[in-house]
Amino acid sequence: MHTIEKGLPVYNAEQRNQSAQQRPSLNIRPLVFPLLVSVVLGFSLYPRFPLAADGGNHTAQVPFILSDIVAQCNALDVSPGPPPDFDSRNVSDRYELGTPIVLIRNATIWTGGNGGSEIVAGDILLDRGLIQQIGPQLDDPEDALFIDAQGAWVTPGIVDVHSHHGVMSSPLLSGANDIDSPNGITQPWLRSLDGLNTHDAYNLSIAGGVTTSLILPGSNNAIGGQAFTIKMRATSERSSTSMLVAPPYGLDGSDIDYSIPPLWRHMKHACGQHSTSYGGVRMDTVWAYRSLYDKARQMKEKQDEYCAKVLNGTAIDELGPFPNDLQYEAAVDTLRGKVKVVQAHCYEAVDFDAFVRLTNEFKFPVAVFHHAFEAYLVPELLKKAYNHTPAIATFGSFARFKREGYRHSTYAPRVLHDAGFDVIMKASSDTPAAVVARWLLHEAQQAYYYGLPENAAIASVTTAAAKVLGLDYRLGYVKEGYDADLVIWDSHPLALGATPLQVFIDGIPQLTNPVSALKESFQQAAITPNFDDEAQAAVSYEGLPPLDPKEVVTTVVFRNASSIWQRDSNGAQLVYEAPGTDYEGVLVFNGTIVCAGSGDDCPPNNYPGYYIQDLQRGSIMPALTSVGTALGLQEIPLLEITTSDGPVKDPLWDSMPSILSDGIVAAYDGLIFGTRDALLAYRAGVTSSVTAPITPASGDILNVGFLEGISTHLSLGAKHKLEKGAVIKRNAALHVGILHRSTGVSVSTQIATLRNLLFNHDSSLRGQMFQAVYNGTLTLAVDAKNADIIASLLALKAEVEAQSNVPMKMTIVGGAEAHLLAQELASANVGVIIAPVRSFPFYWEGRRALAGPPLTKDNVLTTLIKNNVTVGIAHQGVKEVVTVAGWAAQNMRWDAAWASIDAPDVIDTATALNIASANVESLLGVGRDADTVDLVATTGGDLLSFEGKVVAVISQDRGVVDIF
Ligand SMILES: *[C@@H]1O[C@H](CO)[C@@H](O)[C@H](O)[C@H]1NC(C)=O
Ligand SMILES: *[C@@H]1O[C@H](CO)[C@@H](O)[C@H](O)[C@H]1NC(C)=O
Ligand SMILES: *[C@@H]1O[C@H](CO)[C@@H](O)[C@H](O)[C@H]1NC(C)=O
Ligand SMILES: *[C@@H]1O[C@H](CO)[C@@H](O)[C@H](O)[C@H]1NC(C)=O
Repeated sequence: MHTIEKGLPVYNAEQRNQSAQQRPSLNIRPLVFPLLVSVVLGFSLYPRFPLAADGGNHTAQVPFILSDIVAQCNALDVSPGPPPDFDSRNVSDRYELGTPIVLIRNATIWTGGNGGSEIVAGDILLDRGLIQQIGPQLDDPEDALFIDAQGAWVTPGIVDVHSHHGVMSSPLLSGANDIDSPNGITQPWLRSLDGLNTHDAYNLSIAGGVTTSLILPGSNNAIGGQAFTIKMRATSERSSTSMLVAPPYGLDGSDIDYSIPPLWRHMKHACGQHSTSYGGVRMDTVWAYRSLYDKARQMKEKQDEYCAKVLNGTAIDELGPFPNDLQYEAAVDTLRGKVKVVQAHCYEAVDFDAFVRLTNEFKFPVAVFHHAFEAYLVPELLKKAYNHTPAIATFGSFARFKREGYRHSTYAPRVLHDAGFDVIMKASSDTPAAVVARWLLHEAQQAYYYGLPENAAIASVTTAAAKVLGLDYRLGYVKEGYDADLVIWDSHPLALGATPLQVFIDGIPQLTNPVSALKESFQQAAITPNFDDEAQAAVSYEGLPPLDPKEVVTTVVFRNASSIWQRDSNGAQLVYEAPGTDYEGVLVFNGTIVCAGSGDDCPPNNYPGYYIQDLQRGSIMPALTSVGTALGLQEIPLLEITTSDGPVKDPLWDSMPSILSDGIVAAYDGLIFGTRDALLAYRAGVTSSVTAPITPASGDILNVGFLEGISTHLSLGAKHKLEKGAVIKRNAALHVGILHRSTGVSVSTQIATLRNLLFNHDSSLRGQMFQAVYNGTLTLAVDAKNADIIASLLALKAEVEAQSNVPMKMTIVGGAEAHLLAQELASANVGVIIAPVRSFPFYWEGRRALAGPPLTKDNVLTTLIKNNVTVGIAHQGVKEVVTVAGWAAQNMRWDAAWASIDAPDVIDTATALNIASANVESLLGVGRDADTVDLVATTGGDLLSFEGKVVAVISQDRGVVDIF
């Protein structure tokens, strides 16, 4: 069989005339530039400086020629739409001269047609920025770039309806943070375009297949301003404006041709808790909307009266100029139905109710509610919105980080789809904690896993997204005449880890020497589990279905497993694998594992009276271990301090209560069991967590203190601390954080303090802990991302060891740039917990993180493994805004699997399990007898696959099996 080592074969015209064997890969000229992402969850990251109060005269430039005024009046209520001759265009307005003609041969094309169920096998011809032709065996033009897709999936480019690219850059720097104006609660006159930085990590979003994004202002205002749609590619002009797609006419004050329909505008709204940044409450937010729209309505009425007179032939001299106000014209256009009202951060029923009333009071439609965590609970309310039912743009699993998101459900996309809504999956570059745009497709994959149908899942990031932008006449489909924005995927787009082989924007290939390769075994979407009951329970319990096990039993026979894994002192071991199509693996449990193997080794008949669980070709695998979150210390991280252990003061910059003179605390003392994040993680096979105390350094965006304290290894399924097996290890490791801080405590100060603590111990608890680190008996876990800081830590470790003469146990947690020191880490015997597993340049100090496929063959993880560094991983979402990441623990199974899918030759199944469990534990000083670890039983497929559904956790430590 022909195996593909590297990317798809790409040939230019000349090379195509050579024999196939001789064709070298074409180096595509770089046409991309760096991109970035970030977010705001409703708290300010930077101090604000009020600008001068606005007191200007806002009278807009108005035409004063009768024919112009008549035209303007006639156009007042014309609905937006494409220019009349748009269908017959044969060159894109965004065409860049010199773009090669491209012929993609033999693609499996998801066109977007037929509700997303049309799939066509054939060729695609791109020219002049457009998809010119789709069909079987197209002619191969002379000078075309030729790509043999070898049957690979092609979809439209991904459309991100909720982006802050450019207005809040990655890495996050205060000089490029233009996301939230502090100058007013409703400011419809502001425009994200005016802050759109051309230097952002755009290329990373492209690497995830994102081609178009709606750039929204942030959510600190009830109306944050106007949003603009951009394409993600570099332009030859290198300007903000040249990135726009279909911008409204007259942006630069130029004359508007009123004989053609206007183009859509976009307005960002945010409700609920957000505008509390203005010191108000929900009532104030809604009043702010109403008073703003009332002003706009008065202006609109004046205009309508004026125009009625003009059209009746009243002399212009008598009437004066067309009434308008630059400050309110966008709000007036909203009332005229010319603005796609885009709502972010409207979460709860109470907020939807108020907004739906607002739309009916002022008569304007809503294109899409964003985030919309409770939308699935109130479909009938949403259908009452003025004029038409809004689409819903929401997340896969991002939830519960604040009260407004407490009732979200992973089943929401599917429930909404079933209720007839257009469902859009979104990223949220609102905060580095949330969902990075690069991995937006993974949101659709999660929605698919939890029951959104395949066609709707792909549509949720392509056609449905293009529709709410009002751009589905040119984007979101692979169709002749559409913009040439498409992605060739290495696997089925809904397969875990799907990565672009190539991305086209306006017909221009975006990836230079992509390292991704066709994955032959991932060309179909997984057959996902049935979650009908769970989806129904989510609704009937208003988002809070019980998470306790259905049953707790002590004797079980699991049968029909296709594989059984257990853990021994070397990590995960395969103890049974189905030889062929017989799936007869059996594991017997009676307080402890009695037998594991084939049906012959452990005949189920020998165990009468046992609870029988048929795994239907599923699997049993060791449970995973979370790290880097506050799981076990809090319920709702943001703004709800009473649901949490609370933050620990940091002796490096806070004054400690004198009664706690040694200033060190242990997570053990604050443990909280039974939180929803913990129970959801448990039900997803992440049954324990190593948790350090919460130390959000006040005002520090990194949210990790210097002296964090002592972590505890706890079971996420326990009911309380005193239950058997609830605390696996009371004192796991001593945690410190050495980071570049916005609070002004220098890195050198932090290192000097650490040195002092390591060399000079007093008799306090803190002194004893650091002495134990010095003595090599306690692990020091250091939060660090930056290579220079890691180098300083390795040097400090050598200093200590030169004096103590014993090896010091040090583990790096974070490690975005650890690959730069792979050999040094290996020789110092310092392991790294990569947190989060897929690195991203959230901050300057992690800007050199390796992006991984399709941009670089290796990522931080594989580089370290290849250099024999012991690595563990923390799931995505961790250690950016650390306290909010617990929601993501349930995705750890995907994170581990994805790491393996990206690099199967480096990370096999056992390694994938170990980096997410045994290694995490050993790197944090938790030595464990193998016969105490939990095992996870799944039906349909294994824990690391989209087929598998967790049905039981076997707790050897507690001697019970939790059945879900
Ligand atoms: C398309 O590619 C697939 C996979 O390589 C191959 O089996 C098939 O024959 C190709 N079809 C055409 C029409 O070239
Ligand atoms: C316009 O003219 C029509 C017919 O003469 C009349 O009925 C209407 O009231 C006029 N409207 C205004 C606003 O003057
Ligand atoms: C489980 O093991 C205990 C102790 O060996 C034994 O007494 C009990 O009968 C077993 N239970 C079943 C259902 O086999
Ligand atoms: C560290 O080693 C010293 C010297 O051997 C010993 O006195 C002390 O008890 C040890 N402390 C800890 C916390 O291990």
